[in-house]
Amino acid sequence: ENIYVGVDLGGTTIKVGICNAEGSLLHTYEGPTGTADGVDAVIDNIEKYVRLIVEDSPYSWEQLAGVGAGLAGFTNIREGIIILAPNIGFRDVPIRSILEGRLNKPVKIDNDANVAALGEAWSGAGRGIENCVCYTLGTGVGGGIIINGKVYQGFAGLAGELGHITVVPDLEAIQCGCGNMGCLETVSSATGIIRMANDAVARGDRTTLSTVEKIAAKEVFDAAKAGDEVALRIVNRAAFYLGKSMASVAAVLNPEVFIVGGGVSKAGDILFDEVRRVFAKLTPAPLQTGVTIVPAELGNDAGIIGAAGLLLRS
Ligand code: BGC
Ligand code: NA
Ligand code: ZN
Repeated sequence: ENIYVGVDLGGTTIKVGICNAEGSLLHTYEGPTGTADGVDAVIDNIEKYVRLIVEDSPYSWEQLAGVGAGLAGFTNIREGIIILAPNIGFRDVPIRSILEGRLNKPVKIDNDANVAALGEAWSGAGRGIENCVCYTLGTGVGGGIIINGKVYQGFAGLAGELGHITVVPDLEAIQCGCGNMGCLETVSSATGIIRMANDAVARGDRTTLSTVEKIAAKEVFDAAKAGDEVALRIVNRAAFYLGKSMASVAAVLNPEVFIVGGGVSKAGDILFDEVRRVFAKLTPAPLQTGVTIVPAELGNDAGIIGAAGLLLRS
């Protein structure tokens, strides 16, 4: 029996999973990306986790038919290169050939949010839907565009970088890891939410939040749910720009469903209600008709399932 390993290389965590030939997820494992230790260390970690998960499973290395990887950065899948990964510090890394060399297995790659979108389209919130757009809200903000059931890759394979749509007005914009100012990622990622919380504390705003550096964006959502107005303002700001970006994306692509995944999406209604409200306010009525904004269904597994699926389904 053949097995396939899916790798989800995120800004903070590397997740790996074993799928069978039917695409069912059998085992998962995750560990830190190790971004601070540099490019080589991150690649070492990918190799280590792939070997570990197979060793710890009932399957043998010989049964491993291939590895699919979703990568958190501007990814040229034809060339197999990560051109720029703002949150991992990769620039022009020929990741596919490096991994093939180290693992001695066929490797397929795509952008992390593209594979999450594929996972959701195959077996999650996008099942049976031909045109949908997926956002992932984590360390960064990712995007995946499914048109007629396939990921839309664009001219250089870089379509769907929704986190780098410029949404914040100039006077309030800060620089993004990509170099641009005012990207969606600067306000709607976990990193952005944490930064806004720290800024509020530093300014002396009246809030139950304390400096939240090492703490997840969840604290901010929890405080907002508990009635902290400063926290609520931050949540609403993250939601506002996400909804605003969706209004533009709706005008360009007219997707049927917007799927929102990634750790931040676990905040639930407090986030989704505001995103829906803003989308309804900023989108021309015909472009809203029949269109829904829903949470991802595969949760943290969308990326690994979609990544393994690169070998199984395309
Ligand atoms: C990167 C994307 C990635 C997203 C989520 C962004 O900063 O540019 O390629 O999909 O983070 O990891
Ligand atoms: Na993408
Ligand atoms: Zn950016």
